[in-house]
Amino acid sequence: MNLKLIKGMRLVLATHNPGKVPEIAALLGEGYELVTAGQLNLPEPEETETTFVGNALLKARHAAEASGEVAIADDSGMSVAALDGAPGVFSARWAGPGKDFGLAMRKVEERLEEVGSTDRAAWFTSALAVAWPGGPAVVVEGRVDGDLVFPPRGDRGFGYDPIFRPEGGDRTFGEMDPAAKDAISHRARAFETLRAWLID
Ligand code: IMP
Repeated sequence: MNLKLIKGMRLVLATHNPGKVPEIAALLGEGYELVTAGQLNLPEPEETETTFVGNALLKARHAAEASGEVAIADDSGMSVAALDGAPGVFSARWAGPGKDFGLAMRKVEERLEEVGSTDRAAWFTSALAVAWPGGPAVVVEGRVDGDLVFPPRGDRGFGYDPIFRPEGGDRTFGEMDPAAKDAISHRARAFETLRAWLID
């Protein structure tokens, strides 16, 4: 079996979030036909694993088995050292059904006050998995370290970007232009590794 992503290949993107398609297409580079699990009406599995790697693998394997085609999935989130890695795989869920990240960021600040720690170290993780139907799967991880600032700063990006300041800089992800964030982000780093393994 050839474990390479060959140009011209069709890939099932194991997401029901249409917003992820252009982002993943740009990171993969030209030449792939991408179809989403949503477009194929594949059922969405519950993210029951406790790690980013586990959830990315679960989603990629599920889509590969359901479609009979090679599938790619991602799972990502923010971890805070003083909160033992929370919100972690629950990053999206902390925003509640209304996907309110103002609420999620306040929750992070409140939890830090509760534990009484002055440690503001945090990191973003992105796990990317590619699964072949009935066959193997490959999973890689990318990470960017930084610290948290309150109140949130900047209105660019999404999710927890306004409270996260990557190491070596003064600006939060919410204040950086998208190209500057993409140059160092966890997702870009995971793709670099994936590209090295699976793309010639
Ligand atoms: P996923 O769609 O299940 O991978 O959920 C990831 C969640 O983690 C998102 O809803 C965001 O809240 C958070 N997250 C992941 N990557 C980033 C990022 O680059 N900036 C800000 N928040 C992020």
